Amino acid sequence: MHQSDVLILGAGLAGLSTALHLAERFHVTVLAKRELEVSASQWAQGGIAAAVGEGDSIDAHVHDTLVAGAMLNDLPATRFVIEQGPQAIAWLREQGVPFDTEGGALHLTREGGHGQRRVAHVHDATGAAIQTTLLANARQHPRITLLENHVAVDLITSRHMDITTEQRCWGAYALNTATGRVETFAAAHTVLATGGSGKVYRYTTNPDTASGDGLAMAWRAGCRVANMEFIQFHPTCLYHPKAKSFLISEAVRGEGGRLLLPDGTRFMPAHDERAELAPRDVVARAIDFEMKKHGIDCVFLDISHKGEAFIRQHFPTIYQYCLDLGIDMAREPIPVVPAVHFTCGGVLTDLAGRTDLPGLFAVGEVAYTGLHGANRLASNSLLECTVFGTAAAKAIGQESQPPLLAPRAWDESRVSDADELVVVSHNWDELRRLMWNYVGIVRTNKRLERAASRIALLRAEVDEFYANFRVTRDLLELRNLLQVAELIVRSARLRHESRGLHYSLDWPHTAAPAAPTILVP
Ligand code: SIN
Repeated sequence: MHQSDVLILGAGLAGLSTALHLAERFHVTVLAKRELEVSASQWAQGGIAAAVGEGDSIDAHVHDTLVAGAMLNDLPATRFVIEQGPQAIAWLREQGVPFDTEGGALHLTREGGHGQRRVAHVHDATGAAIQTTLLANARQHPRITLLENHVAVDLITSRHMDITTEQRCWGAYALNTATGRVETFAAAHTVLATGGSGKVYRYTTNPDTASGDGLAMAWRAGCRVANMEFIQFHPTCLYHPKAKSFLISEAVRGEGGRLLLPDGTRFMPAHDERAELAPRDVVARAIDFEMKKHGIDCVFLDISHKGEAFIRQHFPTIYQYCLDLGIDMAREPIPVVPAVHFTCGGVLTDLAGRTDLPGLFAVGEVAYTGLHGANRLASNSLLECTVFGTAAAKAIGQESQPPLLAPRAWDESRVSDADELVVVSHNWDELRRLMWNYVGIVRTNKRLERAASRIALLRAEVDEFYANFRVTRDLLELRNLLQVAELIVRSARLRHESRGLHYSLDWPHTAAPAAPTILVP
């Protein structure tokens, strides 16, 4: 059994910023599902939004966040996060993140939905720069233990301790994929920083680790979740048979990129007066419309008019990646399609990341804080990770530390090794396909109903498999993905309107008043 003051599940920006703040006083264990470098934060290209530019203001950033979020955002939460923006950037700079500068000041880029340049960045690989810096700092810290290849199975709650008086989280069980054994991680406080659920869909910009583990575990432990119907499709994922999940940053549109049909016609101005700089839900829906109308497999993003020197300077990573695949973005447009990018809903928390279960916090994409509403504004996610990492660490520091009791060890006495794994691989594939086809950019009652009944069948099979066989990473992820899919579909069926990322042909109008969808286990 491992013991620490605080257990953090996930080593992306939310997990590491929580850990680095806590390590001033506490022993912290951070578990990563795969290598420490594999996280959605690591892949973030665009940057981190904050009102730090000349002429910008907190009010303007709040306004753009609310407009992008189709007014479903929680106003106090939105103000709280955005007010902390300048401080979040200052903390990252103190940690050593080498943000791009121009004439001594931060260079700010622009992205869809922002009324002005507001996105601090490190070229087009901001997440990688942040993660490299924070990981190096965490590795050197004597009070932080970083463990790779540990997949959380479930949270340890009072029922695993034979405690009936107080409901609390006491850590987590995690599968060590190097040994195949489930280990017990006991902790006075546990922080979910497990990221989103993009892998529930067939095409996503997320890494393979985004299987909704934290969300499913929190739900099973009795926590409420909110707004799961709002799954963000990023408008521009590279369309190429050899590219898996490669994003073409929104900053490409921010710096003048135009979306074109195969014959070179620009189509966004006909859909929205903000054209390519409309929020993501609008742009993704427009691309989906044009692809279906013309029967085409992709559209094209063209920034070649800015010239090679500009493109190489601003987008070195994207330029090189595309060039390696034979696409010279300085001379030709890039083929792109929308793909699932961000889970706007999540485990319901307060402004300190506290969930419904005492001792359990949730930060980053796994959480629903109220910031994103019905559609996240570009580059507000790294901001949310940093702000809530700081807030959760502060709150944990202020709470009393309960004495650590020993949870029951993981019991494998009634399971055996699986005789065949086709149930897992088949159901994994079927789930992701049906979510893509039935619960995508445009939804209908009938499609959602079909999705719900198929998910129920898949869940029954997988639950039976889980009860009888030893756990593997694929089985754990599939079990969690099915749980998340069920929550997405259930939430979508409860929303009888179209708003932000949830667009239904049966409920095309926006209803008043705006209210989040809160599910109670
Ligand atoms: C991007 O660079 O387009 C992604 C940034 C984000 O998801 O906010």
